[in-house]
Amino acid sequence: MLTMRIPVIAGNWKMYKTPSEAIVLAEGVVKALSSLDGPELVVCPPFTALAAVGRVVAGSRISLGAQNLHWAREGAYTGEVSAAMLQDVGCRHVIIGHSERRQYFGETDESVNRKSCAALACGLTPIVCVGETLAEREAGRAYAVVETQLKGGLSGLLPEQIQKLVLAYEPVWAIGTGKTATPSQADEMHAHIRKTIGMLFDSGIACGIRILYGGSVKPDNARELLERTEIDGALIGGASLQVDSFAAIASAAQK
Ligand code: 13P
Repeated sequence: MLTMRIPVIAGNWKMYKTPSEAIVLAEGVVKALSSLDGPELVVCPPFTALAAVGRVVAGSRISLGAQNLHWAREGAYTGEVSAAMLQDVGCRHVIIGHSERRQYFGETDESVNRKSCAALACGLTPIVCVGETLAEREAGRAYAVVETQLKGGLSGLLPEQIQKLVLAYEPVWAIGTGKTATPSQADEMHAHIRKTIGMLFDSGIACGIRILYGGSVKPDNARELLERTEIDGALIGGASLQVDSFAAIASAAQK
């Protein structure tokens, strides 16, 4: 049976854009992409801009996502934001385990797991990020590292929960560096991720799960990446901060 995986094009705005700047960008994205057929479109502004961007994208085909969350429903956790809060402000997606959070904020596979469960419990779609560093790739450990991240991050999730989740392969050495994994490097890793999901859950789930590629995706390399059978979309940093480049990448996802 052939499974149709609808591509996802998601913009991770990272710590860029004040709320007023974010409104301008979101308005541009809505205008440029409202009539695009095909991929699911997501924008993930910083927390402070979620409400404002939520109002701009409401009623359009662009969905709102956050970049992180805390796993508790509420509590004395100064500075944190819960899944229920994100859901209430209009989020449908949330990025979890981004390498910048792993690198600078102590995110672990265990916290990725707790956050994924919390997001799913509130009806949010987690976009769970995995990926190896350059040192790990050069040591021939890329596949093993990603496998460990998947096992730890997704441990204990039920098959019906995994079905709702989106994965993103972001090799750390390709993020913000201008170096992209070659389409075949990315395709091979995506195939390995799918195989691992098949082993951890079952082959039907592996076949249906969307795996996005992230790391220096730009308008001029998007098509060759997105054409690959194993690549089901993109998680875009820098190029999502401009309407033209985000729109060009989204258009390249119309398979
Ligand atoms: P760049 O597209 O800027 O390399 O960032 C990728 C990324 O980290 C998306 O989450």
